Amino acid sequence: MRRVLLSTLVAALPAVAMAADAERVVEARKGFFSLVALEFGPLAAMAKGEMPYDADAAKAHAADLVALTKYDPSDLYAPGTSADDVKGTGAKAAIWQDMDTYQKKGMAFFEAVAALEPVAGNGQKELGAAVNKVGATCKSCHDDFRAKN
Ligand code: HEC
Repeated sequence: MRRVLLSTLVAALPAVAMAADAERVVEARKGFFSLVALEFGPLAAMAKGEMPYDADAAKAHAADLVALTKYDPSDLYAPGTSADDVKGTGAKAAIWQDMDTYQKKGMAFFEAVAALEPVAGNGQKELGAAVNKVGATCKSCHDDFRAKN
C-alpha cells in the first residue's frame, strides 16, 4: 500500500513540474509580446498623429523592435503551452498544428520591422507607411493564431 502511494506520488511530480514550466513559458511569451507592443505603440501613435512626431524617439523605438526580432523565440513555443493546455494564454493550438504558417507570419513581421527601422527617422509620412505594414503583420498573425485570453 505504502509502496503504491509512493510511486503515485513520484509519478505525479514531473507533471507538476511541467505545469509550472508551462506557466513560466506563457508568462515569458506574453512578456515578449508586451515588449513588442510597448515599442510599437508610440510608433503607431506618431503615425496616426495622436502623438507629436519625434525622429529620435521613432528611431529608438524602431531599433528596439529590431532588437526584439533578434531574440530566438523557439523557447516561447514549448509544446504543451497552448490555450488548450494552460490557462491565461491566448496562443491558439493552431500554432503548433501549423507551425509553418505561424513562422511565415513571424517572418513577415520581422521583414516589416527591418524595413521600418531605416525610415523611422525620415518624417511622419514615411514612418506612417512603414508602421501600417508592420501593423498589418500583427493583425494577420493575431487573426489566425491569437484567441482572447
Ligand atoms: C507571428 C505571430 C504574431 C505576430 C507577428 C504578432 N503577434 Fe502579438 N501575439 C501573438 C500571440 C500568439 C499572442 C498570444 C500570446 C499568449 O497569450 O501566450 C500575442 C499576444 C499579443 C499581446 C498580448 C500580450 C499579453 O500580455 O497577453 C499584444 C499586446 C500583442 N500580441 C501585440 C502585438 C503587436 C503590437 C504586434 C506587431 C507589432 C504583434 N503582436 C505581432 C502572435 C503574434
